[in-house]
Parts: sequence; C-alpha cells; structure tokens
Amino acid sequence: MTDRQRGSEDYTNRARSGDAETHEPHVHARSATLDERRGGRGQTSEPTDDDPAPLAIEIAGLVKHFGETKAVDGIDLQVPAGGIYGLLGPNGAGKTTVIRMLATLLQPDAGTARVFGDDVATAGDAVRERVSLTGQFASVDEDLTGRENLVLLARLLGYSRAGARERATELLDAFGLTEAATRQVKTYSGGMRRRLDIAASIVVTPELLFLDEPTTGLDPRNRNQVWDIIRALVANGTTVLLTTQYLDEADQLADRIAVIDEGRIIAEGTPGELKASVGSGVLSVRLRDPARREAARDVLQPVLDAPVVRESDPAALSARVTDSGRVTRAFEALSHSSIEVSEFTLGQPSLDEFFLTVTDRSGRAEAAAADGSEGSGSAEGAGNAESAATTRTVATADRVENRSGNRPASDSKRRSQ
Ligand SMILES: Nc1ncnc2c1ncn2[C@@H]1O[C@H](COP(=O)(O)OP(=O)(O)OP(=O)(O)O)[C@@H](O)[C@H]1O
Ligand SMILES: [Mg+2]
Repeated sequence: MTDRQRGSEDYTNRARSGDAETHEPHVHARSATLDERRGGRGQTSEPTDDDPAPLAIEIAGLVKHFGETKAVDGIDLQVPAGGIYGLLGPNGAGKTTVIRMLATLLQPDAGTARVFGDDVATAGDAVRERVSLTGQFASVDEDLTGRENLVLLARLLGYSRAGARERATELLDAFGLTEAATRQVKTYSGGMRRRLDIAASIVVTPELLFLDEPTTGLDPRNRNQVWDIIRALVANGTTVLLTTQYLDEADQLADRIAVIDEGRIIAEGTPGELKASVGSGVLSVRLRDPARREAARDVLQPVLDAPVVRESDPAALSARVTDSGRVTRAFEALSHSSIEVSEFTLGQPSLDEFFLTVTDRSGRAEAAAADGSEGSGSAEGAGNAESAATTRTVATADRVENRSGNRPASDSKRRSQ
C-alpha cells in the first residue's frame, strides 16, 4: 500500500445527522498518519529548545513577474508546521501567485520556496505528495453530481473502486452534502460548492493545505461551517495556508498573518501584534439624539486633535486615538456639554483599520477613479471586500487547473503556464 493510500484510508470523517445545508461538518482524522509521514523525509529540522517549530514553508527572495506585472516581487516567509497561517492582501496583491508557486503549478522566476524542506522547483513530486490546493475558483465539475466528483477524484488518486465510493461517502457525510450527493453540482448553492471544493482537496489528507479564499461569497452561516472544517483539519495535524480578503476571517482563524501588497510582504505577525501596531485604538461614540452629532463632533475634534469620522449610523462618531489621556478629556468635554451619550468605547483597532493603514491605497484609488480605470487594488476593494466578494460569481475557467492542483500537478503545470 502506498503512503498516499494509507493516508487516505486512515482518514475518517463523521458528521452529525441532519439537514445537509445546516448541520456543522465534523472532520476527524487520525493524526498518527500525518505524524508518521512527518517523521519521514523532508523535514528541515527536528524540534529543539532553540528552534521548536519545524517549518512547513520556507520562502526566500521569491519572484514571479508576468511581463511588466511584478506579481510576486521578492518575498521572504516562514510558516511553522501546524496551525493556520493567513496571507492577507487586496485584489492583485500576489496571494494566488504565491500559492501556485508553492503548489508547483507555477515556476518561480527567482528565489527559493521549500515545503517541508523540499524545494518546489527541484523536488516538485515530493512537494505534491504532501500538499493540496483548494483554488480560488470552483474546481469541481458542474455537470457531475457531488458524489461523482469525489469518486472520480479518489479513483484518479489511486483508490480502488470500492475505496473511492467509501471515501466519497465519508466526505459527503462530513461536509453535510449527503442529501445533495446525487444532484448535479450546478444545482448547488455557493456554500455547498465551496464545501465540495474543500472535500475534493482532502480526498487524500494533505500535510499542507492551501486554501485560496475559501469563503469568498459565502453567507455567515456557510462561512462558519467552512471555518469549522478548517479548524478540524488543523486539529488533526494539517497545516493550512489561507488566503483571504476577509480581515475578520484572518483574525478569527490565523495564528500568524503576512500582509502582502503589490507582490511584497508589508507586515507580518499575530493578529494582535498587527492590530496593536496601528495605534492604541479607536474611540466610538454613539449619541442619544442623532441631531446632536455635529455639535458632538465640534466638541470632540479639538480635544482629541484627530479627525472625528461620521459613521453610517447617523448617531455614531469614531476617531483613531493614540493618547488615552485625550479620551478621558473627551469624555469630560461631552459630559460638560448638554449632549447625551448612549455609548462611549475605546476599542482595539480592527484588522480592517490595520489593513487600510498599511496598504495606504486611497491615493491610488483616487488616481484610478480620476483616470476612469477600475484600479484592481483600490482602497474600496480592500475595505469593501465583503460586498465585492459577495457579488463575485464563481468562475469555472480555472476548473481544470485547480482540479489538477489537487495533484498530480505535472500536467497542470503545463496548462497553467
Ligand atoms: N497568468 C497571469 N498572467 C498575467 N498576469 C497575471 C497572471 N496571474 C496573475 N497575474 C497578475 O499578477 C498580479 C497578482 O495576481 P494574483 O492573482 O496573485 O493576486 P491575488 O492577491 O490573488 O488577487 P485576488 O485577491 O484578486 O485573488 C495581478 O496583477 C494579476 O493580474
Ligand atoms: Mg487570488
């Protein structure tokens, strides 16, 4: 039995019974398989007191240009094994290009990238044995049923006919798709497709899973289900490299985050570190009477010595503050005026605020708007990722490429370049 087959058959999924669309998926894998495989070749180093975390990904000076476009422009990155690492950035930042190089779908122009110690450029087969990719766009065949897709993939990955059927049943069950299993995928909702996509990428349990915007376009319930799937995979030993434009998603899931913009990493750290680096916090004030908002603004602005922003809530104001002493004085000033306040809070900056601060794209967005171009990496694109993403349709052009991204990728490498 091959390593791959063993890994697959040791992997079991169980789900609660219930409605296919609503129940929470539960994914269980026996981690012994991954531990066994981790103990094998390719590890960069054994854990020691000085260097406790072996690296799943080690990138140095990675470059990929497409003509004039510097998609990836010299990236250094170290991702520890275990846990979830977030790659965050606006449209066109280079996230997918990084992932495609790591998954051996694209050859780097310069620099090196290692996955569990194996170089993606020179040891592609070894890398493909250990990774899997859920691409940004749907990778399953819409004309097939959910079950047919999974059985087909399992067969391609070396399962026997009976083994493939069994594996498909396990995955459909785990991802809440049993009732929809015999329907063509084109009849699935976006959330069901996304779950099937992820199921397809773990037909064989990978040691490292690339998830490229796994929840784009999903409603909050489906997002939560996908988050649960990701957490369950990680709990069972898989390392996840997640790209997202949802800053709250990175905040919720990722142990560490690298922020990428225009092909370069512009910040790296834990979500808490990144938020703390923006400043001490954001003051939010809500008034009892929205009619007093301008008066409140006039009171707050000189005391805070910072722009006071009118929120979309007509009774709310906010301001970024770096000096907590000014917050106290602002509270006193409002108390002395006759303006009634229903809420006065000082919070940590959100990752959205961090993102907009470090990418500082508003100037470029305005320039793009002025010359009539769309500006794929605009501040609007970053700040309104949620609304932009929910209107994005699921493209099928990448189907073949992403399906083969599950491995083996030798064919897809040719197709994708
Ligand atoms: N095959 C390609 N040929 C030419 N240009 C490309 C190709 N792939 C990516 N690019 C360009 O490289 C840049 C980075 O693209 P990439 O898809 O990596 O960004 P991204 O961060 O994944 O963006 P998004 O959030 O929109 O998915 C973009 O300017 C894109 O247009
Ligand atoms: Mg992308």
